[in-house]
Amino acid sequence: MSSQDTIWERFLAPVVRFFINEKELQQLYESIDWQQEATRFQRADVETPSYYSSQNFHGIKHGYLNPGAAVSYDPITQYVLLPNEKLVRQELIETIQSQPRRILDLGCGTGSTTLMLKQAFPAAEVIGLDLSPYMLVMAERKAQAAHLDIKWCHANAEYTGFPDASFDVVTASLLFHETPPAVAQSILQESFRLLSVGGEVLILDGNQKTLRQLDWLNNVFEEPYIRDFAAKSVDASMVAAGFAAVQTTDLWLIHQVTRGVKPLIHKSGVGESTEEVIPLEGWIPSPA
Ligand SMILES: C[S@@+](CC[C@H](N)C(=O)[O-])C[C@H]1O[C@@H](n2cnc3c(N)ncnc32)[C@H](O)[C@@H]1O
Repeated sequence: MSSQDTIWERFLAPVVRFFINEKELQQLYESIDWQQEATRFQRADVETPSYYSSQNFHGIKHGYLNPGAAVSYDPITQYVLLPNEKLVRQELIETIQSQPRRILDLGCGTGSTTLMLKQAFPAAEVIGLDLSPYMLVMAERKAQAAHLDIKWCHANAEYTGFPDASFDVVTASLLFHETPPAVAQSILQESFRLLSVGGEVLILDGNQKTLRQLDWLNNVFEEPYIRDFAAKSVDASMVAAGFAAVQTTDLWLIHQVTRGVKPLIHKSGVGESTEEVIPLEGWIPSPA
């Protein structure tokens, strides 16, 4: 099936277009100087991996490197994240068992989960990280409109550049089904490195068991890696990255949230036990 004739292109996109106000989106798109805005986030040392730049996501040419993706993401996501976008994201937040001081949201996109994290933990320093400067432009606009102090960082979630043990909670929502399995694994390893001992990782995504049974659905949204994602197990990948107390909770059969904890002792030896709060000033990479 070519990108031109996916079920998404033929049937669902016209339906979604019926619900979204295309004229309003076009006006929003045209009201933003994308290159100027993106430059505020864009870092020259961030390399774009080929899986990310070489194909379409959700039928959008160049995927998230197309500013159009940043404008259309939220209006479409509200219809595809059933039964209700806020409820689904809230499940990730409610799975957090600690009172984190520092939270990193990987592949934050337009920041929908990031904003909710900051609202749930107002005293925490919250950072949203994404490979697309255009998604960060939208995320920042949303945070400003909601009067939320969140930092936004252009980086690859596999190599964030933040110091070891500098976060208490690392999250990723709807990121893993969009990455090849090896990339998802290295993001988990990076999360492990970034967490302090006792820190929590939370991964919200499509339900892998259900996706395996509904293979036809995998053609619908033009998701190049969703089959690979469905075939794997976030649980097993988390354990392989060194996490303990790993548990996946099914959400309405179509989503799942997986939580793991960085243990004191892990297979490579003794986990670094630090209560010290490492100052992050200077670690939020500044644009080139
Ligand atoms: C489906 S969107 C999810 C966005 C957001 N987390 C949400 O819940 O709506 C996937 C996001 O992951 C980002 N992404 C994909 N691979 C990445 C990587 N290696 N590092 C950082 N961000 C990445 C994309 O740019 C995109 O914004």
